[in-house]
Amino acid sequence: MRDISLHEVGRHQIRLAEHEMPGLMALREQYGDSQPLKGARIAGSLHMTVQTAVLIETLAHLGAEIRWASCNIFSTQDEAAAAIVVGDGTAEKPTGVPVFAWKNETLEQYWWAAEQIFLWPGAKEDPTLGANMILDDGGDATLLVHKGAEFEGVGMVPATSEDDAEEYKVILATLRKSLETDNQRWTRIAKNLRGVTEETTTGVLRLNQMFENGELLFPAINVNDAVTKSKFDNKYGIRHSLPDGIMRGTDVLLGGKTAVVAGYGDVGKGAADAFRGQGARVIVTEIDPIIALQAAMDGYQVARLEDVVATADIFITTTGGRDIIMAEHMLAMKDKAIVGNVGHFDNEIDMAGLAQIPGVEKVEIKPQVHEWVFDKGAENERSIIVLSEGRLLNLGNATGHPSFVMSASFTNQVMAQIELFNAEGGAGSITGKTYEIGVHVLPKLLDEQVARLHLDSLGVRLTELNKTQAEYLGVDVAGPYKPEHYRY
Ligand code: NAI
Repeated sequence: MRDISLHEVGRHQIRLAEHEMPGLMALREQYGDSQPLKGARIAGSLHMTVQTAVLIETLAHLGAEIRWASCNIFSTQDEAAAAIVVGDGTAEKPTGVPVFAWKNETLEQYWWAAEQIFLWPGAKEDPTLGANMILDDGGDATLLVHKGAEFEGVGMVPATSEDDAEEYKVILATLRKSLETDNQRWTRIAKNLRGVTEETTTGVLRLNQMFENGELLFPAINVNDAVTKSKFDNKYGIRHSLPDGIMRGTDVLLGGKTAVVAGYGDVGKGAADAFRGQGARVIVTEIDPIIALQAAMDGYQVARLEDVVATADIFITTTGGRDIIMAEHMLAMKDKAIVGNVGHFDNEIDMAGLAQIPGVEKVEIKPQVHEWVFDKGAENERSIIVLSEGRLLNLGNATGHPSFVMSASFTNQVMAQIELFNAEGGAGSITGKTYEIGVHVLPKLLDEQVARLHLDSLGVRLTELNKTQAEYLGVDVAGPYKPEHYRY
């Protein structure tokens, strides 16, 4: 945490956010007395924003102990971190949750922080005092435990990695140091973990891959694919926070510009809608024929990046894939084209290739806004603006998604934590279900419940089915109203 004196500023913002997070506040009301998370020790890795502060305090309200880090080097709001550390104590005597996050971390600091959320006092001597739950966003905390336990199993950390990314080298260095001091740490931690609840598409992809390879060490709940998460946060959240980040970063008018959105999944749909709403002309790139057709029918031009790279003004990646905008694309762009990413990892944009372009010069306009100048001094000197160094710009250049939409996501998170923590016969379980090692989604009835909790504050009056209508449709009056395969 950077500066504890910011705690009052953070507290004011948290108070306002609580008003916009009816789902989380309803859970506090509903489960405050029964304490379904009593005994849970949650290692959390998720953007340390004001909205996350409301999540953390909700988990604590339901009985959990918590240690927290951010899942991105730029996304922490230092005032939110300070308020969470202070808790209901004072800056001199904080009583809150340990937070290992600040805005603008180095990669080394980031992985140090990820390690800290697993180092619970007394856990080395008595592993049951350690973390027993992970709340993850993007899967880095889960990856650290799995890689740590794997390397402890073979007794060494490989000297080099098959993965050429700078970040992976830092993970290896972090684990090498950890193995030197304690060569069973991650094995112990993995054994004590009841499970992980994962927030985002990219983290779910990693979990599914681990499960398919037989590597997953504990059960997981895929929060992302709750309908009230991905069809709301990914879409409507981005529709708000993407233009927010571009505007705060560049002050460029979006109306009349041509914006390329790479990927038209949930995040891409929100991004394209935001640009259209501002009067920009939107071009979508896609690899999936169904989604490309969807984009076309929504009225967007669908093209290949190489065909539009020289004429568009703004380029945003939303794919969750890699190598989407390469150095040669950036070299071909118009002067002062804006480039940014809102997919989870920074490998959508070839930042390493950009830095290696001969003669390229990087100028800091302000933190998280950089101009990259090509052919300096030549007749065709030109530059592009890259936001947040290719990392999530909606969190790096702005403050991420607004509270209301995060309330829906985080209500799913809290329910998922309750479910997994109580899965082995815990009295607090909502459904009474057990969860084997695998990647699960919450039952649809809970998904509908999350939506219900957000209707009143929008003045929505839901029509109620009568018994005859319900029988005709083959559903229960109280829901769920749709079969599992329904796509919304
Ligand atoms: P999604 O799977 O619904 O959409 C991704 C789309 O990209 C798919 O339609 C896919 O066909 C397309 N795609 C893949 N490779 C491509 C390529 N080379 N060129 C063009 N299109 C390509 O995933 P979703 O939910 O939209 O998430 C996307 C990313 O955004 C993930 O990394 C996710 O974790 C992240 N995310 C970021 C948020 C933020 O606040 N910035 C919020 C939620 C998710």
